[in-house]
Amino acid sequence: MEKRYLLFICLSILTFCLAADASNAEAARPCNGRRYSEGDSIVCVCSGTYCDDLTPIVQGDIPAGQFLSYRSSRSGDRFLAVKGTIQPNGTRQTDDGTDPTGAVVDAVFTISNAGSYQSLIGFGGAMTDAAAINIMSLSEAARKSLLDSYYSETGSEYSVGRVPMASCDFSTHVYSYDETPGDFDLKDFKLTTEDLDMKIPLLKQAQATAKAPLKIFGSVWTAPAWLKTSGRENTSGQLIGQAGDKYHKTWAQYFVKFVQSYEAQNVSIWGLTTQNEPIDGYIPMFPFQALGFTPASQRDFIAKDLGPALAAANLQHLKLIIMDDQRFLLPNWADTVLADDTAAGFVDGIGVHWYFDGLTPASVLTKTHNRHPDKFILSTEACQGSGIGQHKVILGDWSRGESYAQDIIENLQNWVGGWVDWNLALNTEGGPNWAKNQVDSPIIVNATADEFYKQPMYYALAHFSKFLPPNSVILKSNLASTTNPWGVKRVSKASGLQIVAAQRPDGGLVTMVMNKGKKDVTLKVVDGPGGGRSFVVTVQARSIQSFVWW
Ligand SMILES: *[C@@H]1O[C@H](CO)[C@@H](O)[C@H](O)[C@H]1NC(C)=O
Ligand SMILES: *[C@@H]1O[C@H](CO)[C@@H](O)[C@H](O)[C@H]1NC(C)=O
Ligand SMILES: *[C@@H]1O[C@H](CO)[C@@H](O)[C@H](O)[C@H]1NC(C)=O
Ligand SMILES: *[C@@H]1O[C@H](CO)[C@@H](O)[C@H](O)[C@H]1NC(C)=O
Repeated sequence: MEKRYLLFICLSILTFCLAADASNAEAARPCNGRRYSEGDSIVCVCSGTYCDDLTPIVQGDIPAGQFLSYRSSRSGDRFLAVKGTIQPNGTRQTDDGTDPTGAVVDAVFTISNAGSYQSLIGFGGAMTDAAAINIMSLSEAARKSLLDSYYSETGSEYSVGRVPMASCDFSTHVYSYDETPGDFDLKDFKLTTEDLDMKIPLLKQAQATAKAPLKIFGSVWTAPAWLKTSGRENTSGQLIGQAGDKYHKTWAQYFVKFVQSYEAQNVSIWGLTTQNEPIDGYIPMFPFQALGFTPASQRDFIAKDLGPALAAANLQHLKLIIMDDQRFLLPNWADTVLADDTAAGFVDGIGVHWYFDGLTPASVLTKTHNRHPDKFILSTEACQGSGIGQHKVILGDWSRGESYAQDIIENLQNWVGGWVDWNLALNTEGGPNWAKNQVDSPIIVNATADEFYKQPMYYALAHFSKFLPPNSVILKSNLASTTNPWGVKRVSKASGLQIVAAQRPDGGLVTMVMNKGKKDVTLKVVDGPGGGRSFVVTVQARSIQSFVWW
């Protein structure tokens, strides 16, 4: 009995202290960490009654002359607030790296306010059937926690969403929106229960949660079987016939009907990709839904069918995104499609997936940008656990979070305007997926316990999505190691420091830094050439840290 009272008093004091601190940035509800034997770090456990918050980033909350940062780390920090003082303009460290503050600086990161790169579209994830099924499997309160975690001001503030048009491998069965053979007028086109009872209600709730309109784009995996050379939806095949014929005109109308059907349900569509992974449609016996296009057949389909159909339906404002496939296809894919003026006139952007990035350096993205500077580049799909023999779900794996941050930084350094994750949520097996192609996700749902687990990947992505609202601009910057008195560099590239800087639409400067190395690194950040304002921070080993200051 007495123990219970003691606990009650302790809790009361704790609650009082937390309440007293409520105006302060550190008062966000912290991660309820849990360690699984398979992971080297933690997941944060959320339910209908508790979930950790990520405090909104508001200029007024940060005293002048200070920076605010949040740190997540393999050792278990999750968006831990760290504040510090900014030194005035002109405080220079000496060439041997000794800062006037007394710190020995390992590396200097200089942000040049003289130059900028791309403006950002945003960050987000895909509302697949699998994601929707998992989110719907939670109680209403837990579902709200999950959507808040992604879309609200106390979450990662996602601004982009991808939605599969009909089924993909992350569905429980194979279907298209029109299963009537020879229905070239698409009279029997209709959305399914997956759309009407799951994806659409969740997208509407996400939209109501987000403070700005979400940029939702559709991507399609397969055409109805009767439009395909293989006569099957569950594998490869191309459209029958040639661009300009009735098969292609019908296929273009299918896109129009999709947009109109979603908009009739009050989900507004921002864009479309021309086809998910078009090269899969040429792989014999491909294990799930696919439809093949070459760069030339995609170019002709856009110029003769899809572009004119969207224009005729008054949908020319939609962002049309080509390729939506692996980086190694660049720059050739974009060169071929965009060489045709008619096709190029309908196209807004180029979508890239990350799965074979090891084959092609990120610099090919800059090369593509330089050849097509008026088209944006968007990373449209990425996930972990898809490799042959790889574990599907690993609860609490820090290196998977690092892989997200690394890819985002590389993309942002090479003209990519945003980064869209694959499934928003999966179950503890990494599904459902009818083709047994399970993978990992930043949020893993455990329906039995009515709880979900926020993985390191969730926080890695949030370190960018939360600090970089749409229309933030990537800034020119330079990272340089200092040398010790014997002329040896204090940190080498092998230390694994990766870093990018941007300016927010509200004028705030942001820097995202990841240290993949085993040693802490003392970093000096300078916000202008020739001795701008600066601050010196310790970037912990195996951590990701985002900074903001005005
Ligand atoms: C694919 O679909 C065909 C019919 O269209 C069916 O006969 C076959 O069993 C399916 N294969 C798989 C793996 O589902
Ligand atoms: C869409 O929104 C309009 C206007 O708010 C409303 O009248 C209509 O019922 C909504 N339709 C659906 C399907 O929610
Ligand atoms: C999911 O919840 C059930 C019921 O609480 C529990 O037995 C199981 O261990 C949980 N799974 C994971 C991966 O935590
Ligand atoms: C810092 O001071 C130098 C020298 O006075 C000046 O040229 C530079 O523009 C200033 N930079 C910033 C960011 O204020």
